[in-house]
Amino acid sequence: MNTSNEHANDVSRRRFVTASTAAVGAAALVSPALASSAFARGDDRIRVGLIGCGGRGSGAAQQALNADPGVVLVSMGDAFSDRLENSRTNLVKHAGERVNVPPDQRFVGFDAYQKVIDSDVDVVILATPPHFRPEHLEAAVKAGKHVFTEKPMAVDGPGVRKVLEASRQAKQQGTALMSGFCWRYNIPNRECYARLHDGAIGDITTVHSTYLAGPLGKRPRQDGWSDMEWQMRNWQHFNWLSGDHIVEQAVHAIDKINWAMNNRTPVRCYGVGGRLCREGLESGDIYDHHAVLYEYDNGARAFHMCRQIPGCWGDNTEYIIGTKGNCFVNSWGPTQIIKGPDNEVAWQYKGPNPNMYQVEHDELFKAIREGTPVNDGDFMAQSTLMGIMGRMANYTGESVTWDDALNSPERLGPETYAFGDYPMPPVTKPDSAKIAKAGT
Ligand SMILES: NC(=O)c1ccc[n+]([C@@H]2O[C@H](COP(=O)([O-])OP(=O)(O)OC[C@H]3O[C@@H](n4cnc5c(N)ncnc54)[C@H](O)[C@@H]3O)[C@@H](O)[C@H]2O)c1
Repeated sequence: MNTSNEHANDVSRRRFVTASTAAVGAAALVSPALASSAFARGDDRIRVGLIGCGGRGSGAAQQALNADPGVVLVSMGDAFSDRLENSRTNLVKHAGERVNVPPDQRFVGFDAYQKVIDSDVDVVILATPPHFRPEHLEAAVKAGKHVFTEKPMAVDGPGVRKVLEASRQAKQQGTALMSGFCWRYNIPNRECYARLHDGAIGDITTVHSTYLAGPLGKRPRQDGWSDMEWQMRNWQHFNWLSGDHIVEQAVHAIDKINWAMNNRTPVRCYGVGGRLCREGLESGDIYDHHAVLYEYDNGARAFHMCRQIPGCWGDNTEYIIGTKGNCFVNSWGPTQIIKGPDNEVAWQYKGPNPNMYQVEHDELFKAIREGTPVNDGDFMAQSTLMGIMGRMANYTGESVTWDDALNSPERLGPETYAFGDYPMPPVTKPDSAKIAKAGT
């Protein structure tokens, strides 16, 4: 896929698939040595830089350090110095001198990501709020770095197009690109989904997935915080930063729809959503519930619902129905059960369940050492776009096609970043007149 807007606006569902397939072919031609060249400097250390030093970034850095004794953390970047220092202190406690980030390798502000990428690192971990991901990913891949990037990959269509382009470049140059869609690295789920793809329940006709949870934490505004700082420190609650919780959190469950459908692209979706219980300014402008129906060109349908409302029943499961049986997945259980045509249990996972976050990094650093490129680009972009198209449908009251979402010109958030005034946007009310389509 070309990066130019003109071309990007002409991307179709067919071309999404074709471009991806072509890129896989190209990757197969890449010399494995290229993938490991970045750290081949005469010692066996793999130098890691962390961008976004919050909860998940710090966790991912720990898992990277656990994954390989040669991993060293040498560079860190965050929008805020308190987040960076807190993370660094904890990581030093975890890994001692393998966390060696001197003051001149600690970068703060909106340009911190570029400084980490430009420092002498082999691998970067991207774990900021999702709004910034496409820009950070693009820069990291362009600089030839191996990347571990948290989900979701973007909050809007222009962002997804950037991610697809970065993914294609990573494939071509043979650098690793691993996503934080961690359930794909969950061993019980892998065993189960492999059976589904082998036809254990026949052709999949229906998928039902939920992410019914409570609200995420809020940080009350403090004296001296500008609009921008306040929103950034409460990023989960602002659409431009998080993409709404259907994109930020429930995308895990949407990714499991995508996985069940073997990454088949939905043709269109529609749904309902709203905001019943979110209160206070810190709760931002996102909805607190969504339900979306995805339609596929083979007649299959996938239903997703998610909620962030306190005091309600919680559920995070998938029901997958096929022509010869059905499957129930509760990843947290873990419970993975496949049933035959008469609803008899045909298979149930009974093996080990190692920490999937650690599995991700074990596999990433093994791949880097062995020079075998790993690239999650296609499914991570696709699952993210499915979440975005669901939000677009619910915010506009329209049915939204895959092409509408992928080619959407709607870019969320400011064009440039600065700590200062940035008024809180109003909550969006469904209004089909507002759907933004390419060329309009
Ligand atoms: N895979 C999973 O299970 C999982 C779990 C939690 C979070 N996540 C994802 O990880 C990402 C981070 O979530 P978190 O819970 O760690 O949030 P967090 O708020 O704890 O951390 C985000 C960090 O990024 C920093 N930041 C914000 N904007 C920045 C910028 N432009 N440049 C540099 N730093 C910036 C913040 O100051 C903060 O320290 C999100 O995308 C989230 O969806 C994934």
